[in-house]
Amino acid sequence: MKIAVIGTGYVGLVTGVVLADLGNDVIFVDIDPKKLSTLRSGKVPFFEPGLEEILSRCVEDGFISFTDSAADAAKASEIIFIAVGTPPAEDGSPDLSAIKAVAHALAPAIGDGYKVIVNKSTVPVGSSDLVSGIIASHGVPDSAYDVVSNPEFLREGSAIRDTMEPDRIVVGATNPVAAQKLIDLYSPLSGQRLVTDPKSAELIKYASNSFLAAKISYINAISRLCEICGADIRDVAAGVGSDSRIGGQFLQAGLGWGGSCFPKDVLGLLSTSKQLGYDFGFLKAVVDINDDQIAHFISKIETRLGGFEGKAIGLMGMAFKPNTDDIRDARSELVIKHVEAKGGKVRGYDPAAAENIQAAYPNVEIVDSVYELGDGVDALVLVTEWNEFRQIDLKRLTEKMNQKVLFDGRNVYQRAVVEEAGIEYFGIGT
Ligand code: UDX
Repeated sequence: MKIAVIGTGYVGLVTGVVLADLGNDVIFVDIDPKKLSTLRSGKVPFFEPGLEEILSRCVEDGFISFTDSAADAAKASEIIFIAVGTPPAEDGSPDLSAIKAVAHALAPAIGDGYKVIVNKSTVPVGSSDLVSGIIASHGVPDSAYDVVSNPEFLREGSAIRDTMEPDRIVVGATNPVAAQKLIDLYSPLSGQRLVTDPKSAELIKYASNSFLAAKISYINAISRLCEICGADIRDVAAGVGSDSRIGGQFLQAGLGWGGSCFPKDVLGLLSTSKQLGYDFGFLKAVVDINDDQIAHFISKIETRLGGFEGKAIGLMGMAFKPNTDDIRDARSELVIKHVEAKGGKVRGYDPAAAENIQAAYPNVEIVDSVYELGDGVDALVLVTEWNEFRQIDLKRLTEKMNQKVLFDGRNVYQRAVVEEAGIEYFGIGT
């Protein structure tokens, strides 16, 4: 099939590349010429395992092309994916200006043959109607197109596998013909198919991400109780998660959730609820627990060090989670800002995100090896659980520290093992 993908961020690029890999002709659209020239050369402007290999192969084999004109791409395509950003505005509501601009840009290209326009970006309930309304306002007849909601559930770091082997494919459509087009397009992929009305599909995305964020906040709240009463959160989470009605995933207590999706989508659902006149107090608590979790951790470090003035800390990992270079809403940012504001110095190591941190926080001293982190610092703080930290030589890691103190924000280590190496240990709920 001939496909247009408008927006070459995470969601757009991964979706389009996977569809091209399945043998479809994919035209990517972006308004950023720098991004387009990077992509044309087969390079991905961010780190995602496996993505660049498939992109460069598909570019070479002629399955992928690029343009800055949404209208040109739409004219040549049967299915048009909108995958532009919907960042939170000041009040937490998603900023839909990019989606509206795309709908206006597409409209003149529609009318010559039936087209399905797919909303892939995470959008509030009712956005399919919004896009439809904009296209109709240009005088395009209803029969020429349908707008379908088809939310994406991929995770950074495993985006290709998540797209190739999804748990479910959700299609929200009013016209069964449009729904069937998408079901046909996705026929090579595994996973349950769920065809709904557009509003339900839009809500499924927000409700799923908010539920996962709630699960993490819940276990983090329990971890606080563990710290107070002397229980161990790892045992508690294992016991709770082994109930098949609950499930063990997303019960890893830590510094809380960050990244490009959860914060945006939880705020998005809160703002949608507010607009609909429902006071979603539960979800507000989910956000409050998340904010408190990192604040509590930072204050533990501050108390132990007797303040940050004149102190130095070494950050183990800075990406919002392992296997990505993404630092959007990373917990490391909150640690860096706080320590620097209180007169402390931060040294940091991350196998993928160091460059992004350096650009955003020029005062952070980046080191190329985790073993350089300990040199002259007063505490090591593990923020991101990269695999390479799991079996590290703790003695070598800490030998040049001013004092051997380790704050483990992701419970990577066993207290007994760390203490055995002569290091003072602080975990989460343990
Ligand atoms: C998430 C959803 O999983 C995905 O379905 C959606 O499409 C986009 O948002 P992603 O943001 O890539 O994906 O990361 P994810 O692996 O879900 O982690 C999100 C955050 O939760 C990270 O900050 C991670 O550190 C944190 N987390 C996750 C925990 O603190 N504990 C856990 O048990 C799991």
